[in-house]
Amino acid sequence: MVGTIYRIQELLNAGEGYIGQTVTVAGWARTVRDQKNLCFIELNDGTSFGGLQIVVEDKIANFEQVAKTKYRIFTQSDRKHCKESCQRIIDRNAFVIIGQADPEEYPMAKGVQKPETLRQKAHLRPRGNFFSAVTRIRNNLAYATHVFFQNNGCLYIHTPIITGSDCEGAGEMFRISTIFDNDVSKIPQIKGKVDTTQDFFKKEVNLTVSGQLQVEHFCISMSNVYTFGPTFRAEKAHTHRHLAEFWMIEPEFAFADLFDNMEAAEGYVKFCINYILQNNMDDLQFLDKRVKPGLIDYLKDIVSKDFVRCSYTQGIDILLKAQQAGAKFENSDIKWGMDLNSEHERFIAEKVFQRPVFLYDYPKEIKAFYMKVTDDGKCVRAMDMLIPQVGELIGGSQREERYDVLAQRIKECGLKLEDYGPYMDLRKYGTVPHCGFGLGFERLVMMVTGVENIRDVIPFPRYHGSAEF
Ligand code: 4AD
Ligand code: MG
Repeated sequence: MVGTIYRIQELLNAGEGYIGQTVTVAGWARTVRDQKNLCFIELNDGTSFGGLQIVVEDKIANFEQVAKTKYRIFTQSDRKHCKESCQRIIDRNAFVIIGQADPEEYPMAKGVQKPETLRQKAHLRPRGNFFSAVTRIRNNLAYATHVFFQNNGCLYIHTPIITGSDCEGAGEMFRISTIFDNDVSKIPQIKGKVDTTQDFFKKEVNLTVSGQLQVEHFCISMSNVYTFGPTFRAEKAHTHRHLAEFWMIEPEFAFADLFDNMEAAEGYVKFCINYILQNNMDDLQFLDKRVKPGLIDYLKDIVSKDFVRCSYTQGIDILLKAQQAGAKFENSDIKWGMDLNSEHERFIAEKVFQRPVFLYDYPKEIKAFYMKVTDDGKCVRAMDMLIPQVGELIGGSQREERYDVLAQRIKECGLKLEDYGPYMDLRKYGTVPHCGFGLGFERLVMMVTGVENIRDVIPFPRYHGSAEF
C-alpha cells in the first residue's frame, strides 16, 4: 500500500483476507462491459498479471458516465469485496474517473500486437500483458540477484560509469567529451589532433564496458564483492543478443579458483530461476502460452540438472566429430584456436549435452589480457556459461595474479602498461588468487521469459542506429 491506495497484487495475494473490508484501489481499465444495471470493469494496476474484476452497481451517482463511456478509463475507486470471490468486487461507494483514452486513437487498444510493433511504442508497451509480464520478471531477477549475493556475503560495490580504462581491451567504447562541437573549428586541437587536456576531465575518458577492473580493487581487501550496473559497448552487432547499453552483474571472489567460480555461477543462475518459478507463475504461464511453448518445463529442467564442465579442447573435438557425422555449421572451419560463435555454442549446449555447459580453458589469443595463463602457456583459465536456446550467458575467469605474467600479457595484447597502474598495484602489494564473472542481465531475462529478441526485455533498448525515447 502506498498512501491510502491498495495495490491489486496485495488484495489478490491476501486470499480471503480483505473480504468484508472497504478499500480504495486505483488502476487502468483494460475492458469496460455494461449490462442493464451493472457494469463490469477489468482493472489492472500493473502489480500482478491478473486484474480485479469490478462490478459497478447503478446505485452510484456517476453510473451512466462509467458504463456508457466509449473511453478506456483510468480510475480510482472505493469498493467492498463481496462474499463469493475475492476477484469480484461490488462498488457501493464511489467510482472516480481520473483520465480517459479514446479507444479509436489509443495505440494500445488493438488486441495482440507483435513485439516489433510494440518496440516502436516503448513508452506505452508496459500497458500490455506481454511487456508488463517481462517487466515484473526483470524486477524480480534484479531483486533475486541482490538477495543471492548478499546472502553469500558479497558486498555491493558501485563501480564507475565514466572510466579511462578499457577492461576488455576490445576498443568498443563510447567516448565522453564536452568539447565536441558541430563547428569543428571550435574543437581545441594540437597538430591536427583533438587537445584532450582541454576536455572536461583533462584526458580521454569513456563509458565503461565492464566494472570488473574496479571491482577487483575491492575484492583484494574485502574478499567477496559484486557490482551490478549499466555497461556500454559500441558494437555494431545487429543480432538479437546484443545491445549498446546493457546491464551486467559482476561478482569477484578472493582466494578462489576457476572451478569455485563455476560453482558460484551455477548456484546464482539456479537461484534466479527458482525465484521466478516461485514468484511469477502467472507471468510465466502467460509467456509459456503466448511467447515460448514449454517455457516452464524448460526452466524446471535447467534447475534440475548439474551443469556440465567441458574444456574448450574437448568442445572442439565434439564439434569436429559432429561435423564428420554430418552436422552442418555456417562457419565450418572448425579448428583449435578458433573463436566459437553462437551456432557452435548452442550446438554444444542444446544438441550434445542438453543442459547448460561451462566451456573453460580457452586459447589465450582469443581472450582478454587479465585471465590467468595455464601452466603450458597456451590457454587462459576462462569460462563461458552456454545455455540451450540462448547461447553465452556468462563470461568469466580466474584472474592473472602474477605481476610479471600479467605485465607480459598486457604487452602481448598491444595495450599500454602505464594505463593499468592501479590494476598492477593489486599484484604488487599482497596479490592473491581470485576470480569472477560477468552475467549479461538482459540475456538472463531472455532465458527466463523465453523472449527471443534482447530489445524486448529492456525498457528502452539502445543499439547501433537507434536510441529512441
Ligand atoms: O564476456 P564479457 O565480455 O565479459 C566481461 O565483460 C568480463 N569483464 C566479465 C567479468 O569477468 N567480470 O561479457 C559478460 C557477459 C556476456 O556473457 C553476455 O552475457 C553479456 O555480458 N554481454 C552482452 N549483453 C548484451 N549486449 C552486449 N553487447 C553484450 N556483450 C556482453
Ligand atoms: Mg564473453
